[in-house]
Amino acid sequence: TASTEIDLALFGALGDLAQRKLFPALFQLEREGLLDPNTRLLGLARQDYELEDFRKQIDKALHTYVKAEELDSEALERFLARLDFRQLDFTTVDGYAAIREWRQDGLARPMVVYLSVAAKLYGDICRHLDASGSLDEQSRVVVEKPIGYDLESSAEINDAIGEVFPESRVYRIDHYLGKETVQNLIALRFANPLFGTQWNQNHISHVEISVAEQVGIEGRWGYFDEAGQLRDMVQNHLLQLVCLIAMDPPANLDADAIRDEKVKVLKALKPFTDDMLGRDVVRGQYTAGTVNGKSVPGYLEEEGANTESHTETFVAMKTGVSNWRWAGVPFYIRTGKRMPEKLSQIIIHFRQQPHYIFDPDQRGLAANKLVIRLQPEEGIALEVLTKDSGLDKGMRLRRGPLHLDFNSAFPKTRIPDAYERLLLEVMKGQQYLFVRRDEVEHAWKWCDSLIEAWNDRAEPPRRYPAGSWGPVASIAMITQDGRSWYEDY
Ligand code: BG6
Repeated sequence: TASTEIDLALFGALGDLAQRKLFPALFQLEREGLLDPNTRLLGLARQDYELEDFRKQIDKALHTYVKAEELDSEALERFLARLDFRQLDFTTVDGYAAIREWRQDGLARPMVVYLSVAAKLYGDICRHLDASGSLDEQSRVVVEKPIGYDLESSAEINDAIGEVFPESRVYRIDHYLGKETVQNLIALRFANPLFGTQWNQNHISHVEISVAEQVGIEGRWGYFDEAGQLRDMVQNHLLQLVCLIAMDPPANLDADAIRDEKVKVLKALKPFTDDMLGRDVVRGQYTAGTVNGKSVPGYLEEEGANTESHTETFVAMKTGVSNWRWAGVPFYIRTGKRMPEKLSQIIIHFRQQPHYIFDPDQRGLAANKLVIRLQPEEGIALEVLTKDSGLDKGMRLRRGPLHLDFNSAFPKTRIPDAYERLLLEVMKGQQYLFVRRDEVEHAWKWCDSLIEAWNDRAEPPRRYPAGSWGPVASIAMITQDGRSWYEDY
C-alpha cells in the first residue's frame, strides 16, 4: 500500500470543520496506527497562538468530538507532539515563507495543503504558496465544497487552483463519498451479479433518495442564506449519490475510470424547464416547530436572519437520467433541514412481477425494495416477499427484510467517519473518492438550470413546520405518480 508519509499544512486550523471533523479524523488515524511516524501536521490560522496554546486547543477539541473510550492517552500524546502552528494572514504573500521554512525539515515527503477556508480564498492561497516557493512537483491540495455559487464562479475558482496545481494533484472533498455505505454501493452493484443484472429500467421502477437532517442552520445563517439547500446539499452530496446509483460499471477501480462514468450520468441528467417548477420541484422553508421534543425557531427567526429571505431549506424534486439504462425511471430526491429525524437513505424500487397470482388485496405489497441506509445506522436491507406462516393463512404473503446491519454483522469494527477515509486516501495520493473538475461543473450546469427557472418566477418557498417531513406539496409531487415516499422510519 502507498505510504502515508506526508507533511500536512492545514489552513483554517482553528475553524469549525477542523475542530469538529479534521483533527478528530486525523487522531483516529493515529490511534489506528495509520499515520506514518514521520508525518507532520502544521496548523495555520489568522489568530495568533503560541504552539502550546494551539496544542491545548486541539486537545480540547478532541475531548469534545472523540468518544471518551477512544481517547487513548498514548495516541493522544503522539498526536499532539506532531502538531506545529504558524499564525498567517492568508491574503498576503508575506507570511508564507514560514511554510517554506517549515518544509525544509520535511525532507522529500510530499506536502498536502488542506484548505478548510472560504472558497473565495483558494486562488490567493494557491498563488502565495507557489510564489513563496513552498510547493514542489509532489504537492497536493485538498479543497472543501462549496466550490462556487454557480457554473461561472466555480470555473473561476477551479481555474485559479489549476494555475498552480494540475488536476491530478487536486482533491475536491465531498464527504458523502467517504461514508461507508456510499462506498458499499460500488461493492453491492459491481460485485453481486444478482444486482448487476437487474440494475436498469427493465427491472427498476423508480429510485428514491432522502437526506433528512434535524439540524437547522447551526449559526451559519450568512453562508446558508446565500446558498440554500440546493447548492448546499443537492449540487454535491445528493448528485454524487445519484451518480453512484446510476453510473455504468467502470472498467476498473481507477479514479478516472470511475469519474468518467459519473460524468456521463451528470451529463445525462434531465435539465429543468419552467413548466416543471410547480409539478416536479418543491422548495420549502421551515417555520417554528418542534424537533426531538424541543421547540425551535423558524428559519426567518434564526439569529442574524433577514426576515424577507426566500432561501430554501428544503427541496424535493423528480428528475431522471436520460440514457438507455434509466429511460423512464424517475429519481425522486428530497433533502431538508429541521426534519423529524436524521435519516439518509436510498431506496431502489423494483418492478412487480409481470404476472401476479396471489391475493388481489395484497397486490400493493408485491415489489422488492432495496433500502440502502447511510444514517443513522448504516445498513442495507432487501425487502422480499415470503409466505406468511400459519395453517389458516393459505398463500398469504408477508413482506420482510433480508438485513445487513453493519453494526451487528461486523460487531467489532468501528465504522470510520467519512473524513478519516478521505484523509487517508489523500495521504496515499489516491483520487477515486474525490470529485474531478468536470463533475463539479456538470453538476452546477444542471443546478443552474433550476436556479434560473426559480429566479424567473421569484416565488417564495412553501412553508413547513420544523419537525415535519417538508411541505405538503412534496408529498403531492410523488403521490400524483401513484407512489409514496418510503415510510419505515
Ligand atoms: C454539509 C452541509 O456539507 O453536509 C451541511 O454544508 C450539512 O449543511 C452536512 O448539514 C450534512 O452532513 P452529514 O454527514 O451530517 O449528513
